[in-house]
Amino acid sequence: KPRVGLIGWRGMVGSVLMQRMTEAGDFAHIEPVYFSTSAAGKPAPTFGGVTPELPLQDAYDIDALKPMDIIVTCQGGDYTKAVYRKLRDAGWQGHWIDAASALRMQPHTVIVLDPVNRPVIDAALANGGRDWIGGNCTVSLMLMAIGGLFQAGLVEWVSAMTYQAASGAGAQNMRELLQQMGRLYQAVEQELADPASAILEIDRKVTETMRSPDFPTQHFRGAPLAGSLIPWIDVPVEHGQSKEEWKGGAECNKILGLPPFRSPGSIPIDGICVRIGAMRCHSQGLTIKLKRDVPLTELEALIANANEWVKVVPNEREITERELTPAAVSGTLTVPVGRLHKLAMGPEYLGAFTVGDQLLWGAAEPLRRMLRILLE
Ligand code: HSE
Repeated sequence: KPRVGLIGWRGMVGSVLMQRMTEAGDFAHIEPVYFSTSAAGKPAPTFGGVTPELPLQDAYDIDALKPMDIIVTCQGGDYTKAVYRKLRDAGWQGHWIDAASALRMQPHTVIVLDPVNRPVIDAALANGGRDWIGGNCTVSLMLMAIGGLFQAGLVEWVSAMTYQAASGAGAQNMRELLQQMGRLYQAVEQELADPASAILEIDRKVTETMRSPDFPTQHFRGAPLAGSLIPWIDVPVEHGQSKEEWKGGAECNKILGLPPFRSPGSIPIDGICVRIGAMRCHSQGLTIKLKRDVPLTELEALIANANEWVKVVPNEREITERELTPAAVSGTLTVPVGRLHKLAMGPEYLGAFTVGDQLLWGAAEPLRRMLRILLE
């Protein structure tokens, strides 16, 4: 069995990965070796009923990493930057599967999302490719949702307006969001218990609370999220975009095997990325400019048949309210797409709304599926 080094398995994405690998029976096909950046020598965990032979190995020890056939890391970009080059320079020829963005846009890497870009993965494998990087969550979720339209060559451009969950910013941010919610409730608990209390007074207190200096906002850089939103994700880059917005165009085109974003033959994908008070599902409102007028039923069929996880939600009120929400999708691999209708701008303009679990298809799932492709 191939020796698979697992790094960052204790963090949030890593924990979801271990859970999915257990559910999917992946551990039966590998010899897992667990690495740690802080607890080398301590007992290794047991996942999927497989007790590893070795205790925790030092994740920075190149000699400990070198015997691995495959390395899967969810440890983050700083770890990748500290270790990847050294390991390759030491002659390591194994497969590197990485959740972090550090290597994503390097020419030698493939962004893996096999339900959408299996041909790109297979071509790279045939050419000796060894570096497999998970995409940005928003990008992967959009392509899981409307990959069928790209595959049919129907997309001229896409505007993606996002509604991104706290989990995308990290575990501490999820906690902070809940602390904020609790604080807001506490501030008006008495008034809420009295049906005759004045709503504008409740609102005034809530606003005062979220603006007060002791409202817990440390992890969101001083901005309240509960009861509000934050229309900026990640650092600024060029053209007025945030890095999260830039990734939409850059990564989508790379995943699809198209020329680089903003060069001839690439598909323009852009929008505004917004953090909202959802826990772990990213949502996106999409405007899709089609190359030609295609009947809505045909578009729905193309979307629905692209992979086994996407699900077209009829553009009706009740089912949309029930099924096209973070509350309904959280913790599942289903990627619903709904609100599908032609927009007032013209018959080539398709409106859509999609929701997806940011930790599953947005992070862990493409990695474990790449591992299974390597084991085929
Ligand atoms: N950058 C994403 C976010 C998560 O902040 O929501 C990781 O892809």
